[in-house]
Amino acid sequence: MTLRDWDRAKGNQPLAVLTAYDYTFARLADEAGVDALLVGDSLGMVFAGHENTLSVTLEQMVYHTEAAARGRRRALLISDLPFLSYQESPAQALRSAGALLRAGAEVVKLEGGAAMVETVAFLSQRGIPVCGHIGLTPQAVHQLGGYRRQGRDAVAAARLREEARLLADAGARLLVLEAIPAELAAQITAALPIPTIGIGAGPHCDAQVLVLNDALGLFLGRSPAFAKTYVDGAGIMADALARYVAEVHGRQFPSL
Ligand code: KIV
Ligand code: NA
Repeated sequence: MTLRDWDRAKGNQPLAVLTAYDYTFARLADEAGVDALLVGDSLGMVFAGHENTLSVTLEQMVYHTEAAARGRRRALLISDLPFLSYQESPAQALRSAGALLRAGAEVVKLEGGAAMVETVAFLSQRGIPVCGHIGLTPQAVHQLGGYRRQGRDAVAAARLREEARLLADAGARLLVLEAIPAELAAQITAALPIPTIGIGAGPHCDAQVLVLNDALGLFLGRSPAFAKTYVDGAGIMADALARYVAEVHGRQFPSL
């Protein structure tokens, strides 16, 4: 899947995205047919067990991007620019984006609206595809006062519509809309020429993304209400692991 395939799908075929942080799950998700893999900085929470994504480093994103890239065959590979790897200046963003592309990413994602327009243009004009991310932007969790739904009043909704337009005009090729009203996401999706990727943003986005651990029931922290869990992964695995321990303790494994 290339960005051209993504462009062609807009308005015709909803696309599916999952996060992936390692080789095995990237390969499983790719073989399941996902249209893009996102090496999200959510790995700070679901992989590393942190409270938020702020501690994730560029070096960690490079490592996980390399691992996911080895498991990827067909899906587009998107990687997050982590906190403070791009906010300082367009030049800093270019260096950081370059590191992710060299690790195997095809698109880099960054959070923010108007403040990121110059950076999105700078990267885009230098041949680096950018995915924007507006609405609930987890790197701004303290500014937002928690993981709260965004764009709920008319002023906030108008600002998000405007920022979506500015990012697309600056050259963003994809746009994540997180935790905003479905109607607002539908308006943005209809107004923009680029594919939108929704999470907690209703059914009218061009694509949907889920955090892999949420989809597989493999997150032991608190998942957002909009996440859908397709299997009780933690339950199944806890049971398997407990059986292993019991068999060793009970001298049933290994057998004679
Ligand atoms: O880091 C992440 O997983 C993300 C998605 C939830 C959009 O940014
Ligand atoms: Na992210």
